[in-house]
Amino acid sequence: MADLNELSEKLAAIRAEVLSELEKTTSSKAVYEYKKAVMDGKTGVIGSLMRQMGKIPNEQKAEFGKKANELKVWAQEKFEEIDKKFKDAEARARYESEKIDVTMPSVKHVHGNLHPVTQVTNQLIEIFSSMGFEVFEGTEIENDYYNFTALNTPADHPARDMQDTFYLSPEFLLRTQTSAGQIHVMEAKKPPIKILSPGKVFRSDDDATHSPMFTQMEGLVVDEGINLGDLKGMLDELVQKMFGEGTTTRLRPSYFPFTEPSVEVDVSCFQCGGKGCKLCKGTGWIEVLGAGVVNTKVLEGCGIDTEKYSGFAFGVGLERIAMLKYGYNNIKLLFESDLRVLDQIDD
Ligand code: DAH
Repeated sequence: MADLNELSEKLAAIRAEVLSELEKTTSSKAVYEYKKAVMDGKTGVIGSLMRQMGKIPNEQKAEFGKKANELKVWAQEKFEEIDKKFKDAEARARYESEKIDVTMPSVKHVHGNLHPVTQVTNQLIEIFSSMGFEVFEGTEIENDYYNFTALNTPADHPARDMQDTFYLSPEFLLRTQTSAGQIHVMEAKKPPIKILSPGKVFRSDDDATHSPMFTQMEGLVVDEGINLGDLKGMLDELVQKMFGEGTTTRLRPSYFPFTEPSVEVDVSCFQCGGKGCKLCKGTGWIEVLGAGVVNTKVLEGCGIDTEKYSGFAFGVGLERIAMLKYGYNNIKLLFESDLRVLDQIDD
């Protein structure tokens, strides 16, 4: 039969042991492991204390139970206290290691831009698509027929001198104008036709505002009752979207073999609003494209009934639009791939 004193000493020894073991712990995990072992109902020094009740004389049972319970409560509190101490320290260490220094310079994310001419191309395609135009992409190598003859520019026509041509052979050439695409479309499709044709064109021409290769966007509309007024209406809507509200156009007589009448289209200066500035050379107007009512000879050559149908067409140089819009004074800047120049435009 165990004596109560002996048991009291044992409880005191357990208390001392728990304290010394807890001293040795270095983490909340270690505290948890130790607590689990000590409090285990079968094997733990504290958890299994009540099992010893049988050995205690009846009159001392109450006293022993009380003491054992006190030890248990004390141990629980101790575990909680140490556990909290570690958990706080661990949380602090984690915050410390994950701390963000908001004064550090940020990592630079370099992202590319679309080329300014591509940006202009995309803007025009978006505007024209909203008006119901479809995109037709022609080929850069054409034959004489599509680039000239079918566009009412036969072999001895003086208008051929307007465009210095790179010939690949007597028959084949690098297209000088996207207008060649008009013929392909009219051969393949019956009216109503409403197409847009962007692409590279080539001419033996080279100075600050001309390049041997540049980009054009052709437009062609063929339907019943189409006239110059339709062209003007469409252009006014286009320039408002492209250069801002209040921008308008004016038509000046011109000459292209494939249109009759032919016009040069000026846009009211979007920089000075028409008052006159450096960009518009004091005139208030900037020339942006060529256009006209499609020559009946061209329509007839493609088998289109000119009694019933008529059309308008236009052709615009996209480098020129990019130069005007973004303020480039030399077309070469658009071909030199200097990122310091190109990166500035993200429209
Ligand atoms: N093809 C002409 C050029 O390159 C531009 C042009 C003018 C296209 C009038 C057209 C047009 O469709 O109607 O200079």
